[in-house]
Amino acid sequence: MYSVKVSERIHWVGVNDRRKRLFENMWPMNRGVAYNSYLVLDEQTALIDTIEDRAAGCYIERIEHLLNGRKLDYLIINHMEPDHSGEVAEIVKHFKGVKIVGNKQTFKMVEAYWGFKENLHEVSDGDTLSLGHHNLKFVFTPWVHWPETMMTYDTTEQILFSADAFGSFGTLDGGIFDDEVNFGVFEDEMRRYYSNIVGKYSNMVQKAFAKLSGVPVKIIAPTHGPVWRSNPKTVLGLYDKWSRLEADPGVVVVFASMYGNTEMMADYLARRISEQGIRNIRVHDVSRTHISNIISDVWKFSGLVLGSCAYNGYMFPKMEYLCQELEHLALKRRHIGLFGSYSWNGGGVRNLLKYAEGSGLNMVGQQVEIHGKPNLAKLQPLDALAVEIANAVKAGQPQ
Ligand code: FEO
Repeated sequence: MYSVKVSERIHWVGVNDRRKRLFENMWPMNRGVAYNSYLVLDEQTALIDTIEDRAAGCYIERIEHLLNGRKLDYLIINHMEPDHSGEVAEIVKHFKGVKIVGNKQTFKMVEAYWGFKENLHEVSDGDTLSLGHHNLKFVFTPWVHWPETMMTYDTTEQILFSADAFGSFGTLDGGIFDDEVNFGVFEDEMRRYYSNIVGKYSNMVQKAFAKLSGVPVKIIAPTHGPVWRSNPKTVLGLYDKWSRLEADPGVVVVFASMYGNTEMMADYLARRISEQGIRNIRVHDVSRTHISNIISDVWKFSGLVLGSCAYNGYMFPKMEYLCQELEHLALKRRHIGLFGSYSWNGGGVRNLLKYAEGSGLNMVGQQVEIHGKPNLAKLQPLDALAVEIANAVKAGQPQ
């Protein structure tokens, strides 16, 4: 029956999920995930977001214990995705008369999910709700991550309940706050979370930043990952950087290879890039590294080189999936180079080129395609591609 105080009257009542293998049934959960939920015990009481239902454990009992016989007045839904709304129906059933706080978009989903039409307290952007000591203000942040998503800002203690924004994969293993965890462990998982889940909506993240500019924030309380009470500027800076698609100098080489020919090209190219003085180089086999890790690296570094064998006259299917995801995520501001190999009549590089030309990324160098098995003579055209991608990365990021 434990809870953790975020402030005098606000308790973290979140849970860790170490059982789920795939977040959204798609993204590997090597380090699990936390669902953060917050209970405000004021003259009136409010629960801010819930948790995924199958992760419930003693969730209701913990809330009941903290309420100590008092009623729950409000359930604030910042975000309806089921990893946070999974216990809404249970809360409504258990805490009779609780009023659900949300916006018009939220309530369309509330009705579609559970058929609730009563005890709904609809708010507009900028509306406030006083609980007594705490005064809550609702800030609409659509598409960070769903259209209904909003944040709840406690003007009294300057705490921003930010929903998915500023969240991270990874469980909270004892430490709940940023000053209680080793952030080095979280940063990669946070970027993997951002790039794969929220990255598509980066322009909306920037709009949220504009809306919140000048608002003093002492604590950021997201629905995943650590609660930021000591250095909220750290996570604000990272999200600002990632949503501007700003990247560090470096090159990610991703290859698709059936029998090692394209892989040989990738290794040769990586060596040549290294000889040009680039120190951040990542080489990924698209058949081995999960796409979420590749995308996370692509978000981190400014250079990208894709290499594919031909497969039935097209590029390798897993490479095609990566290109499709990069297109959906609207990746911009990267230099891109291409290479590949074939045995019959090609198709890998030809179709990579179609992706690259439509992507808006900065095409660098001449594509290199090898027929059959590579040898030193056949590999040599990659030298020029290595120089060009390295020079482009050194010169800075495309705008
Ligand atoms: Fe953590 Fe968009 O849900």
